[in-house]
Amino acid sequence: MKTTTEQARERLILALDVPDLETGSSLLNRIEGRVGLIKVGLELFTACGPAAVQMVLDRGFKVFLDLKLHDIPATVAGSVRSANALGASMLTVHTGGGRAMLEAACAEASDDLKILGVTLLTSMGPEDLPPVAISGTPSEVVGARAQLAAETGCGGIVCSPKEIRIVREAAGQNVSIITPGIRPTGADVGDQKRAATPSSAIADGADYLVVGRPIRGATDPAAAADAIVDEIREALDKK
Ligand code: C5P
Repeated sequence: MKTTTEQARERLILALDVPDLETGSSLLNRIEGRVGLIKVGLELFTACGPAAVQMVLDRGFKVFLDLKLHDIPATVAGSVRSANALGASMLTVHTGGGRAMLEAACAEASDDLKILGVTLLTSMGPEDLPPVAISGTPSEVVGARAQLAAETGCGGIVCSPKEIRIVREAAGQNVSIITPGIRPTGADVGDQKRAATPSSAIADGADYLVVGRPIRGATDPAAAADAIVDEIREALDKK
């Protein structure tokens, strides 16, 4: 039986947004055993490619590969086939790529790879939508895209913590909800425009929280991760 702290840890994903393997590896040393998954994103994957995924797997962590694929269906299908061999547990595609692209991605994924649909970047606020000709509020856009992701077979949905309830309603109970844009009370929000605290995200029904700078930028990343895990555990206890 897992302790409540272990259950809370499994829900915390560290965004390993670092420029090289050495920096990544030394951060992993500092947070060993404290988070559930490691997110390898565009910065590290562009610099180091599959070696970045392998380095994280070798350290005993599961990998969330955040490539936000957004291309024509055939190209995304090929990319998912390539990703199957890397050993990641989760891979993101961008729901803005549309139904055919999402279906192609989900059709190619191996049983061990969960496809996650990214709805709308958490760095985008309402004012950022008209210049890219997206009509509707962020909530409306996220709701529609979450429904599309669920219909096309995505196993999870990435959304801001502000839209968890909307996503659950639009996508149903069978998808995991993953939220970046998490900021402990008092932390710098940086470029995140639709951020919330770990406890409010869990209370609203998030399954996983992605946290980057609040852990990476802390003087003591292990203590920062532990504090977030405590907050998750307390919020889970209240449910
Ligand atoms: O440092 P911070 O906690 O803001 O990191 C958030 C992470 O989540 C980044 O790696 C970013 O790429 C990712 N992300 C996001 N918004 C999305 C999808 C992913 O911030 N909609």
